Amino acid sequence: MRLEGRNALVTGAAGGIGQALVARLQAEGAKVVAADLDPSASTADVKLAGDLRDPAYCEALPKQAEDALGQLDILVNNAGVMRRGAITEATDEDFALTMAINVEAPFRLCRAAIPLMAESGGGAIVNLSSCWGVHPGPAHPLYVMSKAAVASLTQCLGRDHAHQGIRVNAVCPNEVDTPMLRTGFTLRGLNPDTAIDDLNRTVPIGRIAQPEDIADVIVYLASDEARYICGALLEVNGGKPVG
Ligand SMILES: NC(=O)c1ccc[n+]([C@@H]2O[C@H](COP(=O)([O-])OP(=O)(O)OC[C@H]3O[C@@H](n4cnc5c(N)ncnc54)[C@H](O)[C@@H]3O)[C@@H](O)[C@H]2O)c1
Repeated sequence: MRLEGRNALVTGAAGGIGQALVARLQAEGAKVVAADLDPSASTADVKLAGDLRDPAYCEALPKQAEDALGQLDILVNNAGVMRRGAITEATDEDFALTMAINVEAPFRLCRAAIPLMAESGGGAIVNLSSCWGVHPGPAHPLYVMSKAAVASLTQCLGRDHAHQGIRVNAVCPNEVDTPMLRTGFTLRGLNPDTAIDDLNRTVPIGRIAQPEDIADVIVYLASDEARYICGALLEVNGGKPVG
């Protein structure tokens, strides 16, 4: 029960990693506020439905979480979208959507959460970047640049707010078995199960990540075991480098 008495706000809480994360946070004793377009299926203690493209929704979430649970100790900027393809195929809408959800929303949420955490003596923020945010992968320039922005934001805030007892870190996964990955295979006309079997063989540890593999690392970064880690980009890749 490493998070007994702590309260967490998780965006994208109804997604692949989000659902596993809510369960892990609760198993460690935390109370969880789930934010998502439709969080109704989440097991979280409080559910705040909304669209992260709405600045007012983002801005208000940390205070709403604090009001609901008494204090905000942990923020996980987990929601994300992936628009695929070369830049020559990208529309203005692809760009705007990617930046709004992957970059602007974490910016607004961090900006709103940090004063609340500072006021209550500290906290932990964990952002979902990607191994592609650190080592660019092919044919996803919008997604890669958005995750690089999240990585950079994490390093900046990790330094700027450590003196307030606020630790800001990022998890950088390689492939994780979630709807985000599976829809990509479906869009390309592939059977997701077969494609994942093939992908498993490319990972030195023998398989791509399951959402719980990432959720456990997020919980670790949010816990006091990571008390001296600030501004880190933690790659979680089963030994697979970006090819
Ligand atoms: N799956 C992977 O292989 C992988 C690898 C590296 C990093 N990541 C990152 O991990 C995070 C979680 O990804 P996942 O694989 O669980 O994806 P997912 O698609 O399963 O879940 C994403 C969640 O974000 C929510 N969301 C999307 N747009 C939203 C909006 N406008 N407003 C509110 N909520 C919105 C969705 O409803 C969904 O529940 C993302 O930031 C992703 O970029 C995933």
